[in-house]
Amino acid sequence: MGIVTLLVLLGLLSSGVCLQNGDAEHITAILGESVILNCAVSHPKIPYIIHWKRQHHKIPIYIWYEGYDPHVEDTYKGRASRVSQDTTYGLASLNLTNVREDDQGWYECKVFYLDRTGSPDNGTWIHLDVHAPPRFTTTPDDVTYVNIGNSIILNCEAEGTPKPEIFWFRDDEPVVPSDSVGIFNDGTELRINKIRDQDIGDYVCVARNAEGRVHHEAKVVIAGGAVIVTPPQNQTRQEGEKVEFPCEAKALPGNVTVIWKREGVAIDKLSWLDIRAIVRKDGALVINPTSADDGGFFTCEVSNGIGTPQRATAYLNVEYPARVTYTPTVQYLPFRQQGIIKCFIKSNPPIQFVTWIKDKRLFDAEKENTVVKLNNGSLLITKVNQSHQGRYSCTPYNRHTTAGSSGDMEVIVRDPPVFSPRPQLQYHGQIGEEVTLVCGGQGSPTPEVTWKRRDNQNLPRDRTDIVGGNLTIRSLRKSDHAYYECMVSNEIATLVTATQLLVEGTTPHPPYNITSETDPFSMKLSWLPGYPGGKDWEQQYTIWYRALGFRTWSQIDVKPAGSTNITIHNLSPGHTYEFQVQGKNMLGDGMFSDVVTATTEALGGQTSDSPIDNPHVTPTPDKPVYDYSMIVFPTDSSGSTYIPTILNPTGPKPDPPRNVTVRRVQDEYLISWIPPTDNSVPPAYYGIEYRTDGTWKKLNDEHIIDATSYTMKKLKSGKKYYFRVFANTLTSFAYSEETMFVVPVQNKEKAITAAIVGGILFFIVAIILSVCTVKICNKRKRRKQEKAYNMVDCRVTESRNGGHGSSPVPLKKRKEFPGEAITTEQI
Ligand SMILES: *[C@@H]1O[C@H](CO)[C@@H](O)[C@H](O)[C@H]1NC(C)=O
Ligand SMILES: *[C@@H]1O[C@H](CO)[C@@H](O)[C@H](O)[C@H]1NC(C)=O
Ligand SMILES: *[C@@H]1O[C@H](CO)[C@@H](O)[C@H](O)[C@H]1NC(C)=O
Ligand SMILES: *[C@@H]1O[C@H](CO)[C@@H](O)[C@H](O)[C@H]1NC(C)=O
Ligand SMILES: *[C@@H]1O[C@H](CO)[C@@H](O)[C@H](O)[C@H]1NC(C)=O
Ligand SMILES: *[C@@H]1O[C@H](CO)[C@@H](O)[C@H](O)[C@H]1NC(C)=O
Ligand SMILES: *[C@@H]1O[C@H](CO)[C@@H](O)[C@H](O)[C@H]1NC(C)=O
Ligand SMILES: *[C@@H]1O[C@H](CO)[C@@H](O)[C@H](O)[C@H]1NC(C)=O
Ligand SMILES: *[C@@H]1O[C@H](CO)[C@@H](O)[C@H](O)[C@H]1NC(C)=O
Ligand SMILES: *[C@@H]1O[C@H](CO)[C@@H](O)[C@H](O)[C@H]1NC(C)=O
Repeated sequence: MGIVTLLVLLGLLSSGVCLQNGDAEHITAILGESVILNCAVSHPKIPYIIHWKRQHHKIPIYIWYEGYDPHVEDTYKGRASRVSQDTTYGLASLNLTNVREDDQGWYECKVFYLDRTGSPDNGTWIHLDVHAPPRFTTTPDDVTYVNIGNSIILNCEAEGTPKPEIFWFRDDEPVVPSDSVGIFNDGTELRINKIRDQDIGDYVCVARNAEGRVHHEAKVVIAGGAVIVTPPQNQTRQEGEKVEFPCEAKALPGNVTVIWKREGVAIDKLSWLDIRAIVRKDGALVINPTSADDGGFFTCEVSNGIGTPQRATAYLNVEYPARVTYTPTVQYLPFRQQGIIKCFIKSNPPIQFVTWIKDKRLFDAEKENTVVKLNNGSLLITKVNQSHQGRYSCTPYNRHTTAGSSGDMEVIVRDPPVFSPRPQLQYHGQIGEEVTLVCGGQGSPTPEVTWKRRDNQNLPRDRTDIVGGNLTIRSLRKSDHAYYECMVSNEIATLVTATQLLVEGTTPHPPYNITSETDPFSMKLSWLPGYPGGKDWEQQYTIWYRALGFRTWSQIDVKPAGSTNITIHNLSPGHTYEFQVQGKNMLGDGMFSDVVTATTEALGGQTSDSPIDNPHVTPTPDKPVYDYSMIVFPTDSSGSTYIPTILNPTGPKPDPPRNVTVRRVQDEYLISWIPPTDNSVPPAYYGIEYRTDGTWKKLNDEHIIDATSYTMKKLKSGKKYYFRVFANTLTSFAYSEETMFVVPVQNKEKAITAAIVGGILFFIVAIILSVCTVKICNKRKRRKQEKAYNMVDCRVTESRNGGHGSSPVPLKKRKEFPGEAITTEQI
């Protein structure tokens, strides 16, 4: 730093002028405009040379001499000139145009005279300041999209001379910094933390200096995802026509991208469609021309990057005349069996009919009694003979007529293949051992023989071999027990036959085809036995069941053993149950059947009052309406009646019992009530619940039938009880208001307590009295002795004694009300 300053000073001295010269002129130019650096010529009559120098520049930036082109330094080319002479400025003044920022600095004007008598004019020093109005170098986006809670920074930077100041306004008011809004970095950053509703608005950044001000608006807007305003609609076109699906969306910001998919695959991935399809700027999909294969669901998906993309789907139906897609040159028909002469057709809308030509004549299938026209246009021949051989062609038609006929197809009648040997109907295999299912085929051409399981499960590859049509399964497992199909096939026909493999020595297979017959309170289940695990083995069954929505399963063994039906009792009406049946043989428990659900009938076909949503319950209006005034208890398997559990109340409710009272009768407690007034839904039985505080408890699962009272043996003495009485129908219930009952302390107890308390109190009082008596006696004695001396002293002593002596008074009081004290304790 020091060295630099020194150099500058030396430079100044060498030019013979002191910068500190107070006369130095300071002028200010505006960036881009022009300025005159004034300099006079003291002896204009003498020829002179004008030098303009810049501080630190070795060569003058401008040299002028009459009659020559002036010298102008490169950076001033075209910008510096001598002022015209008829102006108010000195003759050596410099006209500097298009002022730049780096023009700022010290300038020296020197005038040299060619006549040696004239010493040069002392240098004129001018300091040029270049001022620039502010201009932005960084501005925030015109619109910033936010969600409430986002944090954002708006950046606003400006240049200018002097350095501009930055101010922020919101909706024309200066922004006041707060917890969430702050202005940082000399005002260039406006930060909003966790944007709230009231922070949304139009922000303005202003940059200002002495030369002017500029401003920039930045809207802060709540972003919104794209919404489809014009969705595509289903359209039908004939092949070759153009189709247009609009998909117009609105969004903030509005930079919506639209993606079109056909059946879930982006259009641009479908090369056969892509070449004919374009997505227009407005989002519309245009396919021109349509082709038969274009038909399907088209989905547009719009998004502006905010929220989840929106979709709209429409179906494109492309119609075209019925056409033949494939012409096999030869088709074989199996002699004496049924066979199909195929016509391979594609058609939208579906075909109306197909015309056939056989050996150049129209073939009228209607007239042939062994020929059936199939819906897909092919011909089914129920019994093939030689007369069906020939040269055929087909022509399909639909509403748009036809796209043409098939080529000629040679139909040849041949003997079909035969099974040789044919598998037996059943094979038996012991578990763990091996079994061979025999099958073979003969015919011309030689048929192929294949095996599969009828349930389409895969054959266990590691344990099976097929040799010349024979299927061998090794290490038999229970799962190999199944139907198998042998298929013998050549061009002429395909024959299929099935055989059953019984794997013996296993636990039973799951029972199946479980059916149920339902009643309100019971359900009858029947099922078909699964294979018992061995030839003629016996099995017996277990039923597992539970009410829907409950976790635990109940279990019933079916009796007599081997029976394949059972009635389950004590179910709740209108409720859905899940069942599984499991077989068991001498080897153990077999697999469970599938879970079967069934719903007990709602009483009288009525849907429940407060139902669990139960799709299985359908009202059956043709059923006689259940008579709620009749109470018929259900019976269980032994024929005796029982009271069903109410899982979820259904059917009409009874009225609640009234006027529940609790009375003490001798040493027991009689809870009684009055039956409901309205007897249209009579209670089948009553029940009682009680609590002290906390939860209600059932009274020993008591079902009170034909009575309106109940005797409770024991209640806790001195406790407060609440009771409520339930009126129950078989399916619903209602309960009374609660009744409070404070169990009195029994007389005997009371008397004993009173006696004990009384006794103790008496004892205490007695002690106190005797103590007092002794004290008073002593005092009297002392008084007599002291009387002669001082009366005052005695009085002081008495009042001091009064503090101790107060204790017998409340004791005495308590003795007066022993009953009261006990009563409050009871409560
Ligand atoms: C300075 O130069 C500009 C451009 O050549 C001219 O328009 C202007 O009149 C000149 N000013 C004076 C004072 O000569
Ligand atoms: C130049 O400066 C010298 C010394 O400062 C002074 O004596 C002289 O008069 C000046 N000449 C002019 C033309 O101002
Ligand atoms: C649209 O613009 C917003 C903000 O400028 C951006 O976040 C979003 O990714 C853009 N969306 C799309 C689909 O280009
Ligand atoms: C459009 O077509 C599809 C398929 O044929 C159909 O399921 C859907 O209901 C149609 N939509 C309208 C609005 O007609
Ligand atoms: C026509 O239907 C029959 C029976 O459904 C079928 O066997 C045949 O393969 C079908 N024809 C064509 C060409 O698909
Ligand atoms: C072939 O079957 C047709 C019926 O479709 C019958 O009219 C004709 O007599 C049969 N021909 C022979 C040779 O059995
Ligand atoms: C298939 O099994 C049968 C009966 O065991 C046998 O006669 C026949 O030769 C076997 N076929 C082949 C190709 O092994
Ligand atoms: C088993 O039930 C199905 C329908 O669920 C029925 O078609 C089939 O005939 C039944 N099988 C037997 C052996 O009853
Ligand atoms: C129910 O099982 C018994 C044998 O336990 C049988 O006699 C009766 O026919 C079966 N009833 C029905 C309807 O299947
Ligand atoms: C039952 O109680 C109500 C009010 O609590 C009362 O008006 C009515 O007389 C009582 N009925 C009987 C029979 O006690």
